[in-house]
Amino acid sequence: NKNILQDSHGRDHAYLRISLIERCNLRCTYCMPEEGVKLSPKSSLMTYEEIYEIAKTFVDNGVTKIRLTGGEPLIRKDIPVILEKLATLPVELSITSNAVIIDKYIDVLKANGVNKINVSLDSLDEGKFKHITRRQEFKKVYNNILLLVKEGFTVKVNAVLMKGFNENEIIDFINFTKDLPVSVRFIEFMPFDGNKWDMSKMVSYAEVMRYVHDAFAEDEVERLQDAPNDTSKNYRIKGYQGSFAIISSVTNPFCDSCNRLRLTANGQLKNCLFSSTESDLLTTLRAGKPIEPVIQKAVWAKLKIRGGMDTLKKLQEPELHTNNRSMTAIG
Ligand code: GTP
Ligand code: 5AD
Ligand code: SF4
Repeated sequence: NKNILQDSHGRDHAYLRISLIERCNLRCTYCMPEEGVKLSPKSSLMTYEEIYEIAKTFVDNGVTKIRLTGGEPLIRKDIPVILEKLATLPVELSITSNAVIIDKYIDVLKANGVNKINVSLDSLDEGKFKHITRRQEFKKVYNNILLLVKEGFTVKVNAVLMKGFNENEIIDFINFTKDLPVSVRFIEFMPFDGNKWDMSKMVSYAEVMRYVHDAFAEDEVERLQDAPNDTSKNYRIKGYQGSFAIISSVTNPFCDSCNRLRLTANGQLKNCLFSSTESDLLTTLRAGKPIEPVIQKAVWAKLKIRGGMDTLKKLQEPELHTNNRSMTAIG
């Protein structure tokens, strides 16, 4: 019988996010500081064999879902091999990408059973896109979202909302779902190293719903059933092909039903997105020692809410999250 990765709060962990690379072909302001991040030396990044070995141990311990992230996962040169290796495991494989170059990987993704793709797109306006990503790739991303839908992938679009920047696009994004079967997810801006987070820059779940109720009649807005362990609260405008949702990690976190673990590109296990401690699986593996006990111990130690920042007040105290990474190095 399989082991189950359980923490001391009774949560089971069946979902592993693996960051494949810290680098990215965009420079989103909320994810990476202007000057970029200090990258781990290449020798301390997991090879595809190591990714497979570590992933297999998680699967042997009950993980049934793996999401590949980055940085931008598709800029890893060996992504086809990584996908082929992981596809041999009995897991649901999915990927979160900025979609800039995803058109070149349609066949590889399909061949390895990846059919759910989450794409980051924070604005439907080309100029704003350039401002937030510091790169001019809007058309590629937009067209690739349409391509993914046409190719039959289940697509979620992630939009991080920033006060006074893209909050005026909430209704445009919802209208984007009228004729396109995608789920647009509005994400509350979260604090990570170097992203100059401030509560006042965040657009909250409640604020999003205010925009929605100003634009649509009450009986047009349907609350949908959320998937188990879903990050988001899901809605649909009656008759629209797609849906929209809010990921309210700040004002209404889903920590009590959290089933997630993270593996960074340099082989460190993070038991929570906000954890200030990491467990070094890669060094253990390279030393020829078993990683299973290290994983079990790390999972058991997971804190109940947001890595210990259980109140909004704590989330606003910078000294409480100085040991985390920037999102591009978490995934
Ligand atoms: P699904 O597998 O489709 O549920 O994807 P996901 O929503 O877990 O993954 P995605 O990579 O698309 O992440 C979208 C957003 O979800 C991130 O920007 C975060 O805001 C939030 N999120 C993802 N994982 C976690 C997590 O472990 N903790 C918290 N608090 N938020 C998370
Ligand atoms: N706050 C909220 N979401 C973020 N993401 C990256 N950084 C942040 C942040 N500071 C999102 C990206 C990507 C997802 C994996 O995480 O939009 O879609
Ligand atoms: Fe899970 Fe930590 Fe995210 Fe809460 S903040 S949902 S405990 S990973």
